[in-house]
Amino acid sequence: MTLLDFGLFRQPRVFFGEGKLFQLPVLIGEFGKKVLLVTGAKSFRQSEGFSLLLERLCSDSFLFRQYTVSGEPSPEIIDQAVTEYGNTGIDVVVAIGGGSVIDAGKAISAMLLKKEPVELYIEGLPGYRVHDGSKVPFIAVPTTSGTGSEATNNAVISKVGRNGYKRSLRHPAFIPEAVLIDPVLMLDMPCWLTVSSGMDALTQLIEAFVSPFGSPYVDAVALSGLEYFSESFIQVSQAETRDIEARSKMAYAALMSGIALVNAGLGIVHGFASSIGGHIDIPHGVLCATLLGAATMENMVQLRERGGDTGRFLVKYAQVGRVLCADFSMDDDESCHALLKKLDDWENELNFPKLGAFGFQEKDIDGIVSCTRCKSNPVELSDESMKKILKQRL
Ligand SMILES: [Fe+2]
Repeated sequence: MTLLDFGLFRQPRVFFGEGKLFQLPVLIGEFGKKVLLVTGAKSFRQSEGFSLLLERLCSDSFLFRQYTVSGEPSPEIIDQAVTEYGNTGIDVVVAIGGGSVIDAGKAISAMLLKKEPVELYIEGLPGYRVHDGSKVPFIAVPTTSGTGSEATNNAVISKVGRNGYKRSLRHPAFIPEAVLIDPVLMLDMPCWLTVSSGMDALTQLIEAFVSPFGSPYVDAVALSGLEYFSESFIQVSQAETRDIEARSKMAYAALMSGIALVNAGLGIVHGFASSIGGHIDIPHGVLCATLLGAATMENMVQLRERGGDTGRFLVKYAQVGRVLCADFSMDDDESCHALLKKLDDWENELNFPKLGAFGFQEKDIDGIVSCTRCKSNPVELSDESMKKILKQRL
């Protein structure tokens, strides 16, 4: 087998830049006149941009229905939309909002033609069926920069509590037909959301970059995203900034994180996001933020212990360190150390809450570790290693 051995998913058509929101009516028109508009409960619906968009849709004779979602998409939220709109001949679903809204829109577009409960198709649930990819066309318009869901093939569906889960509805056809990214929509993001969603994007960029299933293409995408993340994260995190350039760079980093993750998979932090996310109600970005430093450190320790070929992943962590610290004079050891210090500094300066703040306790650790999977981590982690990561962030 040659060294180069990989596959690539298709990308959505991307429209990126200030003011692009108002290209939406023309874009929608390519798919038809009957539109299901999925939005969050607050922010964007109250904005001037939303009123102008609705006016434009009305004046262009679109028939649009609105569906509001709050919180992370549950099976009930998806099924209710399918019950309400499954027989109305919707031509295109448009989701405008954060990662949860994009995932909800993606799942609704995937289930409108099926008209069945979404749980029948969620991967990993007992007796689940493989979805055949039939769907209503889907356009994603993110208003936060983090999850990269605008470029991925899955929608995360959550059920929190006893028998809870956080699992995906997935098919290559679920990658949106088009994505419209307008940094103006991100100007009003509150500081905590900017930080947590930014840390989600960073985690995805790093985990995809060090995945054993990557490729030179993923490396280029992830490094480009890391570069723009590095240039903008502190600016957008320090205050509720209205710096459009910085917002634009973060939105680009988030988009790159989505393209990278769909083509390479993710590591142990996202493994925990799936297992812990079904157990306690903790925002996905916060979970990434709190675990990234400890997980990166444990990965490095284990990679050093294994030695041999796994050293190439340490070289990649060193590349990340040089980009995030904007210091290209460091050797690999110095740079790995600098990366850990940078993550530790952000953890302290930006006050990432620990898992205990959300009700996660020491007694939960064994159960969580036993159901945490992560095949795209650069090194296989033992139960002891996973426990070590969680104990550090209790
Ligand atoms: Fe994520």
